[in-house]
Amino acid sequence: MLDISQLRVVYPNGLEALKSVSIQAERGEIVAIIGRSGAGKSTLLRCVNGLQPVTSGTVRLDGEEISAMSGEALRKVRRYIGFIWQEYNLVERLPAITNVLTGRLAYNSGLASFFGYFNAKHRAIAIASLERVGLLHRANNRADRLSGGEKQRVAIARAISQEPKIILADEPVASLDPELSVQVLSDLSRVARELGVLTLINIHQVEFARQFCDRIIGIARGEVVYDGSPDGLTEPVLDSIYRFDRPNADVSSPFEAEPEDLPAEVVA
Ligand SMILES: Nc1ncnc2c1ncn2[C@@H]1O[C@H](COP(=O)(O)OP(=O)(O)OP(=O)(O)O)[C@@H](O)[C@H]1O
Ligand SMILES: [Mg+2]
Repeated sequence: MLDISQLRVVYPNGLEALKSVSIQAERGEIVAIIGRSGAGKSTLLRCVNGLQPVTSGTVRLDGEEISAMSGEALRKVRRYIGFIWQEYNLVERLPAITNVLTGRLAYNSGLASFFGYFNAKHRAIAIASLERVGLLHRANNRADRLSGGEKQRVAIARAISQEPKIILADEPVASLDPELSVQVLSDLSRVARELGVLTLINIHQVEFARQFCDRIIGIARGEVVYDGSPDGLTEPVLDSIYRFDRPNADVSSPFEAEPEDLPAEVVA
């Protein structure tokens, strides 16, 4: 269903953020993407969402080549791609239900949307989405009056109201405390499982990745260095994902680096 093949992204400043990334994923899978800061996780999700021009390689969703699309074609395919951001991206002064309805915008006529009109079908889907994340009782609350955990659940409801083929979540719990993080991730993974939606989650906490995802992809320096089950995420594998080995770093001066950044043999 999702087929990423030999994806390479070089930013205009010459930085090679993704080298030759190939990932296949099927409907219903819940996949964590882990890796150090700067590894290329967000770049990867932006490529899947069609926001990031690719240097070479392809991203296909159900056979449609997202990486080659622009304009109207891209807009159409992005209907089916739900995106969840760290900072929620809600319209703060609008009620929760209206925020969820924006997930239906791409299905509504331009004129109707301009006047804020959504027909009964759109409204029913938005209500069902909010109910699925347990927030129907907050439907009329303005987004800025909701807690962080509630905001992120509204963002999940907005994503599922798109009737997505795929949900992309870029560090969805990075702004939440551990307790709320668990609530939001359990909602997200439960809803994705119930609906059978392929879900890719960029996440920093390895424990959450293990707990809520079926598959873990480890990225280091723009390359996939692990792709498998949470059980296979052993210490040596984690080391290969998180170890310190920037090619240009001066390893002969270990005091310039944080000790936890250094491989065990250097610290010893
Ligand atoms: N627009 C850009 N122009 C140039 N370099 C960029 C751009 N966006 C990201 N980068 C660089 O590309 C690399 C990968 O960035 P990316 O944001 O994908 O990492 P990440 O794994 O999501 O990191 P984090 O965990 O901090 O979010 C980094 O070195 C980053 O500085
Ligand atoms: Mg990122």
